[in-house]
Amino acid sequence: MAIKIIAAMDSNCNIGKDGKLPWQGKPEYRWDMVHFKETTRNKNVVMGYNTFLSLNSKALPNRVNYVVSKKHANLINDLNVNKIFKSVEDLIYWYQTGYQWLKITNNEDLYIIGGAEIYKEFLQAGLVDEIIISIFDEKFDANISFPKEYLYKTHGYRIDESKTKVYGNGKIYIFIRMTEKEVGIEHTYHDLSDIMKWNKNEINNK
Ligand SMILES: NC(=O)c1ccc[n+]([C@@H]2O[C@H](COP(=O)([O-])OP(=O)(O)OC[C@H]3O[C@@H](n4cnc5c(N)ncnc54)[C@H](OP(=O)(O)O)[C@@H]3O)[C@@H](O)[C@H]2O)c1
Repeated sequence: MAIKIIAAMDSNCNIGKDGKLPWQGKPEYRWDMVHFKETTRNKNVVMGYNTFLSLNSKALPNRVNYVVSKKHANLINDLNVNKIFKSVEDLIYWYQTGYQWLKITNNEDLYIIGGAEIYKEFLQAGLVDEIIISIFDEKFDANISFPKEYLYKTHGYRIDESKTKVYGNGKIYIFIRMTEKEVGIEHTYHDLSDIMKWNKNEINNK
């Protein structure tokens, strides 16, 4: 039972533009959506209300959908998701106490699927065990960024897995998986933009 963030961003850590993904509708980025779907299929997903709106106010199929919203906490039947929580604390409480009516899938992990506000809330509270990030080697027009400044504020994360895929004109897509560092282990700082530079150098030196 773990809490995991999953996010995709450009090389400036941007994740959103006017309530949508900055790369929305562009077919060359569809494979990241495939990765997202495969990772979260049949899992519990948690999203902020704006992200719910960005999905055209529809629950993601084949997942247990939880929405966090203070203003819309009483609209469960209208929103047609599994449950709406009025706060992150409420969600964590119900999750930890395992109330029967809270439909938890066989795999009890919670996938925090965004957006920026919700990522920040979970990181700030030190609740995140694992972070799965895709980074595109491009800069998109955007106005919402991943709150990377909270990545190392409470807990450290170490990189367990880093894979690259070359696409387009030598552009690379990086996929990294970080887990919370073990207590007592020296904190290794990895700025997300450094990860991009490091992976690029590795590829160029091959
Ligand atoms: N690239 C990616 O991986 C990715 C993933 C997800 C989303 N996105 C993008 O990110 C953008 C949306 O992000 P966002 O930061 O604007 O919004 P968000 O995090 O999706 O939702 C924010 C809303 O969630 C509710 N909320 C947040 N914290 C809360 C708390 N502690 N207690 C109760 N309610 C809380 C509030 O809703 P109420 O106002 O209703 O109370 C708040 O207005 C979109 O552009 C979307 O496409 C990108």
